Amino acid sequence: MRIFLDTGDIKEIEAAADLGLIDGVTTNPSLIAKSGRRREDVLRDIAAIVDGPISGEVIATDFDGMLAEGRELARIHPNIVVKLPLTPAGLKACKALANDTIRCNVTLCFQPLQALLAAKAGAAFISPFIGRLDDIGHDGMEVIRHIRQIYDNYGFETEILAASLRHPQHVLFAALEGADCVTIPKGVLDQMMKHSLTDIGLEKFLADHRASAKPTQSNPRTG
Ligand code: G3P
Repeated sequence: MRIFLDTGDIKEIEAAADLGLIDGVTTNPSLIAKSGRRREDVLRDIAAIVDGPISGEVIATDFDGMLAEGRELARIHPNIVVKLPLTPAGLKACKALANDTIRCNVTLCFQPLQALLAAKAGAAFISPFIGRLDDIGHDGMEVIRHIRQIYDNYGFETEILAASLRHPQHVLFAALEGADCVTIPKGVLDQMMKHSLTDIGLEKFLADHRASAKPTQSNPRTG
């Protein structure tokens, strides 16, 4: 399963990339706004750090605007994936950009039939938003399960990119349900590495090592 970082924060991306565990990056207009920088500058900087798919989202909501903006974004770097909202215009733009061999990530997906249409439009990625479904009392993971089944039934190659993941349990169940990729905030990546028993176990190993390495009377090193 590929792990993408969901952020426009270059320092976070550098830190995660340094671990060698990051396969790509996703951004959205909210994350770009949070960075306080121009979208194009952020995407260019990310492309210099991570060698993998980097999603940059369009602002236009009409077909012609999305097409023009998508083509502009794709010119930034070969790894840029154009992120389009799951609207009729977004699907039409996805089809047109895919025909030009520009990869698209169709976002704001909340139900499996939207994902079916994105796959038919030639999307490289579909982004179902799990946390936002959970927020309103729905079962976000069920959407992943149904999309997986539909894509497998018909051999669609669109990758399921589980998004709006807020904690490690979301990542666990996305993996168990067969999502191809997850996109997560840096904090969730940090949590995934941690377990209190790992820390306790390591402390015990090191304490035992220190105790066994102590000089004794029969040890010639004591003089
Ligand atoms: O990739 C989409 C993601 O950033 C949305 O996450 O937490 O705002 O629902 P969230």
